[in-house]
Amino acid sequence: MTLTLWIFLAFEVLGANCEVRQFFLKQASGQDCQSLQLGESWISHFLFDCHLECIRRYSENCQAVVYNGQTGNCRPGSIAFGPIEKVTTSIPESGSSDKLYYVRQPIPPCNTSNNFSLYDVCGTSACLYLSTSEADNYSHARLICSQMNSRLIVGNTRAKFSLFWYTIKTYMSANTYIGLQDIDVEGNFVWENGEPLSDEQYQYIWIPGEPTNGAGKQNCAVVQHAQWPRKFGIDDYSCNSKKYYVCERCEQC
Ligand SMILES: *[C@@H]1O[C@H](CO)[C@@H](O)[C@H](O)[C@H]1NC(C)=O
Ligand SMILES: *[C@@H]1O[C@H](CO)[C@@H](O)[C@H](O)[C@H]1NC(C)=O
Ligand SMILES: *[C@@H]1O[C@H](CO)[C@@H](O)[C@H](O)[C@H]1NC(C)=O
Repeated sequence: MTLTLWIFLAFEVLGANCEVRQFFLKQASGQDCQSLQLGESWISHFLFDCHLECIRRYSENCQAVVYNGQTGNCRPGSIAFGPIEKVTTSIPESGSSDKLYYVRQPIPPCNTSNNFSLYDVCGTSACLYLSTSEADNYSHARLICSQMNSRLIVGNTRAKFSLFWYTIKTYMSANTYIGLQDIDVEGNFVWENGEPLSDEQYQYIWIPGEPTNGAGKQNCAVVQHAQWPRKFGIDDYSCNSKKYYVCERCEQC
């Protein structure tokens, strides 16, 4: 018997831009995927109605629903993500009989040359290259990515950061650069796509006590899975250190 239940083959929703988008709902098993509640709950008689109402109220921000088949209680959720320490308000609560159904969007194309492959967790996906050796420094890692028509991974949303976090924890267990640095202006962290680190992300993305800009020389963000396997978050580190790295394919790097 398979634990993964595919619900309703597909239904189509007209987005604000009038493009027809196809959605799939997939039940998450166990605590692998969680979500953040977007607003008040309501009663829906069927899961199908629960999800449609969620989209009507929250449009594209509705990326999961937490539904109780017995009571009909329906809760709208933001993007589904793997369990993240520090987030104590995630749904469904552990031990609850409510179930999470995440929105499964069509899987994007992934050009697999240079050993890139698609990583897909809880409805979030990215086309990534996980390095098998260390780069000499941050700009070296950046160069290697650009030579493979990609960039150092940008983790600028909860979902994307979470995908990065779990992918490297699962497959690499190494100290790894992420595409985030404050080389130009101390304290102004910028993602590799030019986007500044948001205040909202700043709150949860660092290991407690970081960033420190130790010795005035720590301008590149790393996760330290090898060093601190149990600590969630990133650390600012010397851009001249040898680290593993992750590249992501993108449209225009
Ligand atoms: C891709 O994988 C092959 C086989 O494992 C390996 O020989 C090759 O060096 C890898 N290429 C890159 C760019 O990592
Ligand atoms: C980074 O590493 C590359 C490759 O080894 C090297 O050519 C470059 O000089 C290094 N950059 C710095 C700032 O050390
Ligand atoms: C896939 O990527 C490789 C290397 O970046 C590139 O040479 C090739 O043209 C790409 N293929 C497609 C179908 O875009």
